[in-house]
Amino acid sequence: MLVNSSTRYGAVARLFHWSIALLVFVDIVLGLVGKFTPRTGETADFLQLLYSTHKTIGVLVLGLAVLRVLWAISQPRPVPLHPERRVETFAAETAHWMLYAAIFVMPLSGWVMHSAEVGFAPIWWPFGQNLPFVPKSEGVAETAATVHWIAGIVLVATVAAHIGGALKHAIIDRDETLARMVRGTAAGTPAKGGLAHGVAAFAALVIWAVSIGGAVVVFAPAHTEETGAQPEVVQSEGWIVQDGSVSITVVQIGAPVDGVFANWQAAIEYDPESGAGQVTAVIETTSLALGSVTDQAKGPEFFDVETFSQATYQGEIARIDGVRHNAVGALTLVGQTVPVSFDFDLGVTDGVAVMSGATTLDRRDFGMGAAYSDESSVGFGVDVSIALTATAPE
Ligand code: HEM
Ligand code: HEM
Repeated sequence: MLVNSSTRYGAVARLFHWSIALLVFVDIVLGLVGKFTPRTGETADFLQLLYSTHKTIGVLVLGLAVLRVLWAISQPRPVPLHPERRVETFAAETAHWMLYAAIFVMPLSGWVMHSAEVGFAPIWWPFGQNLPFVPKSEGVAETAATVHWIAGIVLVATVAAHIGGALKHAIIDRDETLARMVRGTAAGTPAKGGLAHGVAAFAALVIWAVSIGGAVVVFAPAHTEETGAQPEVVQSEGWIVQDGSVSITVVQIGAPVDGVFANWQAAIEYDPESGAGQVTAVIETTSLALGSVTDQAKGPEFFDVETFSQATYQGEIARIDGVRHNAVGALTLVGQTVPVSFDFDLGVTDGVAVMSGATTLDRRDFGMGAAYSDESSVGFGVDVSIALTATAPE
């Protein structure tokens, strides 16, 4: 039977339950593996693949969650098997509401975080990466990340209790609770009635409100203070960066080492007619991964990310010829502002701008690596490559 009755879960409800359960498990595992994988040049590709998979599965869960809820409200809910055990029934019902909410809270908080940052691990789908009304902002990303993390803890605790309950019914009570969800077995006595869903739903709502509220009000600001991240640079108007990369290559003991900045934002004004515009880019130096020398590069000798967590570039864009453009401006890095100009290619097709460019900086201009006064261990030149795609302002 496809549909539910008051004593059984139909095939559709069970398919939703188990497919979402599986995808949620996979996403928890991927999220945790990602969290505990060190950020180095060697793991950058792996992490990109991992997070793209994680995000794509997450938005799939969100889509299934919407369909599941639409289906569930059109269906009777099977009655509890032991309504006389009021506490147990209430706990189980509350857990169900918690889990229904979780399959929205987790993907949405993840997606807000993804929309607020730029240029890392896209969702694999053609429908755009960013949610409307979410500005590109480190502060927003940080808050959403905290909500995602706290909500993840709530989810894992609830799933553990939920599985524990299911196993208790199967092993200790030896009743049909698990069989109802696995095989669609009919069980329960509708006449006995159940506990009011409303109270359990309200309890779940309160737990979620406290968790998310706590994440937004208490944990996120504390975290922001710790890391010195500033809630700033809102990309309000102008071109909207969809994807891109900011990478550097340094020469260490004669061999090139490639690295990337995972987090950066750019506010771009550009008129395709005249080829003129302005750019302001903020790069989180804390997000640098530079192979095995990431820690040294972030240390006080070089990027000194403890003191200077951001680098800023501001420049004027002008067209040279065709797609060839030039940016004339200044880069502020480790507290030093130095004029930096570079050429790049920028083409606009159907409202999508594709930009790529490269330049070479001299670390000595910024007083970086003063203790390495020759090039034997660290070269003076640092190659910087930038590539991005952006969509036209509304
Ligand atoms: C091995 C893992 C899991 C097992 C063994 C399991 C087992 C069950 C069982 C036996 C029920 C029916 C309870 C009843 O009839 O009173 C149920 C319902 C439910 N489960 Fe799971 N579950 C698992 C994972 C998950 C996960 C990961 C989620 C969501 C994130 C989830 C969400 C739900 C929800 C929302 C219901 C209530 C369905 C409804 O009545 O509309 N479950 N589960
Ligand atoms: C069922 C849905 C999802 C679950 C269960 C889930 C779970 C998790 C878990 C357990 C973590 C590791 C803990 C942490 O770092 O916060 C994580 C991290 C992350 N998730 Fe998700 N997630 C889901 C959906 C999404 C979606 C849809 C996106 C983006 C579109 C996303 C983006 C991220 C990102 C970027 C991180 C890394 C966070 C950081 O480095 O601070 N997640 N997720």
